[in-house]
Amino acid sequence: MTLTILGIESSCDDTAAAVVRQAADKPEILASIVHGQTDLHADFGGVVPEIAARAHVEKLDSCVTQALNTAGLTLADIDAIAVTAGPGLIGGVVSGVMLAKGICAATGKPLVGVNHLAGHALTPRLTDDVAYPFLMLLVSGGHCQFLLVKGHDDYTRIGGTIDDAPGEAFDKTARILGLSQPGGPAVQKAAETGDPKRFKLPRPLLREQGANMSFSGLKTAMIHARGAVIAEQGGLTRRDQSDLAAGFQAAVADIIDHKSRVALDGYLALNPTTPTLAVAGGVAANTAIRARLTDMCAALGVAFVAPPLALCTDNAAMIAYAGLERFAAGMVDDMTLSARPRWPLDQSAAPMLGSGKKGAKA
Ligand code: KG4
Ligand code: ZN
Repeated sequence: MTLTILGIESSCDDTAAAVVRQAADKPEILASIVHGQTDLHADFGGVVPEIAARAHVEKLDSCVTQALNTAGLTLADIDAIAVTAGPGLIGGVVSGVMLAKGICAATGKPLVGVNHLAGHALTPRLTDDVAYPFLMLLVSGGHCQFLLVKGHDDYTRIGGTIDDAPGEAFDKTARILGLSQPGGPAVQKAAETGDPKRFKLPRPLLREQGANMSFSGLKTAMIHARGAVIAEQGGLTRRDQSDLAAGFQAAVADIIDHKSRVALDGYLALNPTTPTLAVAGGVAANTAIRARLTDMCAALGVAFVAPPLALCTDNAAMIAYAGLERFAAGMVDDMTLSARPRWPLDQSAAPMLGSGKKGAKA
C-alpha cells in the first residue's frame, strides 16, 4: 500500500512543510521545505515567541503550497495531514495545528498529531531503515536525552541532562569567547587549533552512576577560566580563545562519550538483533563528538547512524514520517487535537530539572 503524508512543523523558529511517501518498503521524501527565522530573532539573543508565532502564520500557507508543488502533487493526492502538536512554543504550535485542522476540515482528510521529539527520534528509520529497538541520542540547543526507541509510540528515557542542553552551552561559550552564533560551529572551528589540556575544566556527573548529564557547571567554569585569563592579561588572545574552545569541546565530548557508553550498556543488555545508536539534533553535527561515538560504536559492534544535518535539525519531513507510522498503525486524531507546550515522549519518566524550558528549541 502506498501512503503519502503532508507534514507541518512550526514548534520553534523553523516554519516547515514536507511530503513523505511510503511506497513498497522504503519511505521517500518527495519535498521538504524549511523557512528559518534566524534573522528575525538575531537582535534578541534568543527566539522571541510572539515574533516566531507571527512569522509562522505568515509563512505556513506558502510552505505547504511549495511542498506540494515540489512534490508535483495536490491535496487530493495526500492520505493524511501530520502536524506537530507539541512540545514547543505554544503560539507556533497552535498556528500549525490550526492550519492542519483547516486543511482537514476543507478536504475531509485525516488529521494526525505528532510529538516533535518523536519526529527527531524516528528520523533514523526514515533515512536508514533502522529496526526497533534502537538507542537514540538527541542533542540540540534545547534537548539532551537518551531514548530507547522500541516502537513509534513506545519510548523509554534512559538519561539526559539535568540542567542545560549542550547546544545551549556551546552557544554560551561562543558568546563569552566573542565568537559568532550559532555557537557550535564557531567553537568547533576555534577548537581545531587549540590545546584541550591547557584549562582544567570539570566533567560533572561523570563518576555518578546512570546516564544523566550536566552542563551548567561546565558553562560556569568556562566563565571563570576566561575571567582568570582576562584578569591576568587584560584580554584574550586568539590562542586563549582556541585553547578555551578546545577545552570546552573536549569536556562535552568526554561527557557524551562516557554517558553514551553507559546508555549503550543498558541497551545492549536487551540483546537487540541489529544494535544501533542513532543521533539527532544540531550538536550531532560536531565532528569531535561524532568521531568519539563512531569509534565507540565500532569497538562495540554497534551500527552508528547520523542522518544528514538537514534532517537532524528541525524539519517537517520527520513530522510527516512520524505521522506516517502513526497513520499506518490506525492512529488518527479529531478536531479536538490540542497544542501542547510540554509533551514528554516517555510519560512515565520523572520530570527533569530545567528540562522543557520555555523558548528552548526541541
Ligand atoms: O537541532 P538544532 O538546529 O536546534 C535545536 O533544536 O536546538 O540545534 C541547534 C544547536 C545550537 O545550539 C548550535 O550551536 C548547535 O546545535 N550546533 C553545534 C554544531 N552545529 C550546531 N554544536 C556543536 N558543534 C557543531 N558543529
Ligand atoms: Zn527539534
